[in-house]
Amino acid sequence: MSTMIGWQLHCVNKTCVPCTTVIVLNIFECRTACLAKFLCKAATYHQSTSNCDLFVDLSMYNGTMLLDMNIVTMIVTDGTRIPPESEVNWVINGDAETGPCQSGSGVTHPTGWSYSGTITQMYYGNVVGNQMLTDPGPSNRGNCHFYGGNSASTTMWQTHNMTNSINPLLIDSQKIWFDFSAWIGGYLDQDDNAQVSLTFLNQSNQNVGNSTILGPVLAVDRGNKTSLVFRQAIGPVPVGARTFTVKVTMTRASGVSDGGDIDSIVLFLYQ
Ligand SMILES: *[C@@H]1O[C@H](CO)[C@@H](O)[C@H](O)[C@H]1NC(C)=O
Ligand SMILES: *[C@@H]1O[C@H](CO)[C@@H](O)[C@H](O)[C@H]1NC(C)=O
Ligand SMILES: *[C@@H]1O[C@H](CO)[C@@H](O)[C@H](O)[C@H]1NC(C)=O
Ligand SMILES: *[C@@H]1O[C@H](CO)[C@@H](O)[C@H](O)[C@H]1NC(C)=O
Ligand SMILES: *[C@@H]1O[C@H](CO)[C@@H](O)[C@H](O)[C@H]1NC(C)=O
Ligand SMILES: *[C@@H]1O[C@H](CO)[C@@H](O)[C@H](O)[C@H]1NC(C)=O
Repeated sequence: MSTMIGWQLHCVNKTCVPCTTVIVLNIFECRTACLAKFLCKAATYHQSTSNCDLFVDLSMYNGTMLLDMNIVTMIVTDGTRIPPESEVNWVINGDAETGPCQSGSGVTHPTGWSYSGTITQMYYGNVVGNQMLTDPGPSNRGNCHFYGGNSASTTMWQTHNMTNSINPLLIDSQKIWFDFSAWIGGYLDQDDNAQVSLTFLNQSNQNVGNSTILGPVLAVDRGNKTSLVFRQAIGPVPVGARTFTVKVTMTRASGVSDGGDIDSIVLFLYQ
C-alpha cells in the first residue's frame, strides 16, 4: 500500500462514499482491514476519531489529493497483496476444517500439520473438546477446532518457504509485513492452554528476529468462561527470512486431559 500522511482522496463531487466504515484501534488495523478485503482499493484513517473508511469504488476519485492533517490515506497498489489475487492464509488447515475431526474421546491428528502427542482435530459440540458452537469464538468457526487430548504437552507445526511467492529482495528491504492471528482459549476455570508461535528462518534454517507468540489465554483472561479469544500481532518480516514455522503448543495445567483449544490460525503476508 502507498501511505500518504496528511492527505485525503480528492473526489470529483465530494462523494467518494466509503463502502464501509470500521472503528479501529490504530492505523495498522485500518490497513489490515483493507488488505483483508479482496475488493478494498483504499482506506482513509481519521486520526481524531479512529474511524477507518474502506473504499471499493474509486471511480469518483480523480487522482489528486487534498491536504487534511487529520487523515492518513492508504491506497492499495498493484501487487500489494501476496499473492496479488486475494488474501491467502499461508497456514495450511489453520481453521481445522480440512480432513476428519474427532466426535468421541479418541485422537484424530490434524490434517496438514506435523505433530507430537495427542493433539486432535475436534468437532465443536463434542463435550470432550470443551467448545460448544454457542460458546464465544470466531463467527466463521466452521465445524472443528484443535484440542490437546491426554498429553501433558502436545504440539503441531508446519514450515513453508516464502520465496516462491515473495521476492527475497522485498523481505530484505523490510517491505513485507506479517499479520498473524488466532482464536485461543480453554475450559471454564482450568488453565490448560494453547499458544501458537511464528518463527522466521533464514536460508541456513537459523532463526532470524524474535518469534511472535500468541497466547496462552488463561482462565483469568477468559473470565473463567469456556471460550476462544482473538489474538493478533502485526509486524515486519525480518531481514534474511526465507521460511517460517508456525507451531501450536498445548500445555496441561492439571488433570488428565489437556483442554487447550485453538482455531482459525491465520498468517497473511503483505507489502
Ligand atoms: C479533481 O477535481 C477537482 C474538483 O472538481 C478539480 O479542482 C481538480 O482540478 C481535478 N483534478 C484533476 C487532475 O482532474
Ligand atoms: C457527481 O456524482 C454523480 C454520481 O456518480 C454523477 O452522476 C454526477 O454527474 C457527478 N456530478 C458532478 C458535478 O461531477
Ligand atoms: C475463576 O475461578 C477461580 C478458581 O475457581 C476463582 O478463584 C475465581 O474467583 C474465578 N473468577 C471469576 C471472575 O469468576
Ligand atoms: C526456498 O525455495 C527456493 C526456491 O525453490 C530455494 O532456492 C531455497 O533453497 C528454499 N529455501 C529453503 C530454506 O528451503
Ligand atoms: C542465518 O542466520 C545465522 C544466525 O544469525 C547466521 O549466522 C547465518 O550467516 C545466516 N545465514 C544466512 C544464509 O543468512
Ligand atoms: C528481540 O527481543 C529482545 C528482548 O525483548 C529485544 O531486546 C530485541 O530488540 C528483539 N529483537 C528484534 C529484532 O525485535
